[in-house]
Amino acid sequence: MARSMRSLVSERSERFTESVIREMTRLCLLYQGERGINLAQGFPDFPAPAAVKDAACAAIQNDVNQYAITWGAKAFRDAVAAKTKRFYGVDVDPEREVTVCCGATETMLSALLAVVNPGDEVVILAPYYENYWPDSVLAGATPRFVTLHEPGWRLDPDELRAAFGPRTKAIVLNTPNNPSGKVFSRAELELIASLCQEFDCLAITDEIYEHLVYDGEHVPMLGLPGMRERTIAISGLSKSYSVTGWRVGYAIAAPPLTDAIRKVHDFVTVGAPAPLQEAGVVALGLPDGYYSELVRQYRERRDFLVAHLQRLGFGCEPPAGAYYVMCDFDRFGFDDDVAFAHFLVKEIGVAVVPGSSFYPNPTLGRRKVRFSFCKRMETLRRAVELLEGIHR
Ligand SMILES: Cc1ncc(COP(=O)(O)O)c(C=O)c1O
Repeated sequence: MARSMRSLVSERSERFTESVIREMTRLCLLYQGERGINLAQGFPDFPAPAAVKDAACAAIQNDVNQYAITWGAKAFRDAVAAKTKRFYGVDVDPEREVTVCCGATETMLSALLAVVNPGDEVVILAPYYENYWPDSVLAGATPRFVTLHEPGWRLDPDELRAAFGPRTKAIVLNTPNNPSGKVFSRAELELIASLCQEFDCLAITDEIYEHLVYDGEHVPMLGLPGMRERTIAISGLSKSYSVTGWRVGYAIAAPPLTDAIRKVHDFVTVGAPAPLQEAGVVALGLPDGYYSELVRQYRERRDFLVAHLQRLGFGCEPPAGAYYVMCDFDRFGFDDDVAFAHFLVKEIGVAVVPGSSFYPNPTLGRRKVRFSFCKRMETLRRAVELLEGIHR
């Protein structure tokens, strides 16, 4: 075949499109410039903790500027193990059970590449964080979706069981959840754990919002009976310490799983930023008061935004965790989420994410948009002022 007849890009890459979230960020800049308020992408617009920033600067000045050990600097792995013991009472061997990657994002992809064979199935709960589908495709897995039901984002036990079968290799579970804000209960996690054991598969848990819980508690799958050997627990610095640009995440898993993840990670990125892992040691060691203040501030942001969205006519409930709120917009005369999101960014000046980007079947998200509230109160106040324009 003539070369020009052949597609020069892979079929794999053609199976997914540009991130809708980043597209909304781009549109916000295009239509609004500096005036626009971007509540689409989940990054804070307030400073990271001073002690953590100082530690990063000091590490660079002290010439921690070369490759760290590929699976993570020893001091940072030790800090991950100490923090896991401190918060969840789970013993982790930092030498054999921790892999440090470039953000939870790379950690999830490296984990899937490490455990999935072509033709394996991966269970994903919808609405889901938009990376999981492309991650599964890149790893060669077939996703099996289970939809959570409103109100309350309920998990139907029969629907969940029906998604498991002989080809299931893993379930990807994100709690606290983006975009729904759901914090999975201990009973739900036990149900998932029992299916993982019955079908001899893994739980890959994305716990990046583990410290952002307003109602209920974060239950780590790793600590449930029978799950220590079959859980890959993923977290990172991005959300708990407001450093999404640093790209430091990690996986905790039993040694055979960790061995496989480390090999993939080595060939994908070699290692995560060395000086930022040093700063991560300081971050993970912050006192309890840091975390309670973080939650207090996020709860204030959540309560403010949700109350105003409800007053303005959006249909939404306060999320139990993470920093997003999914809203119905039935009152505004639009019946398409993409059209409504474009209206908000172009005419009102606030960027949000169309709900359809969180579902395998876009119609399930057609009547929703997602707001993020990881912003200074003054940013949220400005967003509310702009949103008043909906009624003008
Ligand atoms: C559920 C979830 N996982 C992972 C990430 C990205 O984490 P990281 O910055 O550590 O790659 C995000 C960011 O929005 C997220 O919402």
